[in-house]
Amino acid sequence: MKKILIIGATSGIGYALAEEAHKRGYHVGATGRRQNRLDELSTKLQNYITIKCFDVTDSTAKTSLIEIIEEMKGVDIVVINAGISNYQGSSVLEMEEKVISVNVTGFVRMMNTSYKYFKQQGHGHIVGISSVAGLFGWGTSAPYNASKAFISNYMQGYRQKAKRVKADITITDIKPGFVESEMTKGKKDMFWVAKTPKAAVQMMDVIEKRKHHAYITKRWRIIGWMVKLLPNFVIDRL
Ligand SMILES: NC(=O)c1ccc[n+]([C@@H]2O[C@H](COP(=O)([O-])OP(=O)(O)OC[C@H]3O[C@@H](n4cnc5c(N)ncnc54)[C@H](OP(=O)(O)O)[C@@H]3O)[C@@H](O)[C@H]2O)c1
Repeated sequence: MKKILIIGATSGIGYALAEEAHKRGYHVGATGRRQNRLDELSTKLQNYITIKCFDVTDSTAKTSLIEIIEEMKGVDIVVINAGISNYQGSSVLEMEEKVISVNVTGFVRMMNTSYKYFKQQGHGHIVGISSVAGLFGWGTSAPYNASKAFISNYMQGYRQKAKRVKADITITDIKPGFVESEMTKGKKDMFWVAKTPKAAVQMMDVIEKRKHHAYITKRWRIIGWMVKLLPNFVIDRL
């Protein structure tokens, strides 16, 4: 039985991905900060799941990740999905630092630890949930968009690193457009909004094909191409 560990599986995309992976016969590992949501998921998946409650920004997060992998008796795929966007800080600086600490520092901690584990194991697959937002800057969510640009660029570097080692390691960069979730609840001016189960099905298809890059849903590829063609003087005025 293949084993998939989803970091940030207590709501939205991660929760739906856990359900979809379970349907496809995987043993699922799930993490997040909300123990009650992990317990709910565990009941839903009839305990064919290993859960661990931890915050990716804690200094102990690396140890927690290794512990859940050991509890699962090994893992084949790690999905780094944990992320925040509209954190309400007491100052703009506090808000910006919080987004970077979860989406960048937390991501780096999870990615680096998973990579080392897979290198030692000889094989493995790391999936990072970036965003279409990482393709451009955006005035109202500058740290979020920048954090997603970091994630995609960082994964590209690790993909190159992985080519030079003996271990068979795949690194997949998934860029969702808009997906219904707690993160996007109440957000205005969205379009092509995907239901979470549909996004999860497409994500699992991409993961099983071991693709390096994917947009979710698929039509967001068009936006990706368009954004890449736009000159900076146009993007600067958006
Ligand atoms: N929804 C969209 O339109 C969209 C588009 C592009 C990319 N994405 C990306 O998709 C990922 C999932 O987002 P979502 O839309 O499904 O939002 P969501 O429902 O808010 O889910 C976010 C997940 O991340 C976990 N998380 C947040 N901070 C964490 C922390 N410090 N430590 C550990 N886990 C943490 C949450 O768990 P706890 O709160 O229990 O810790 C939750 O499971 C994010 O990386 C997001 O940037 C979403």
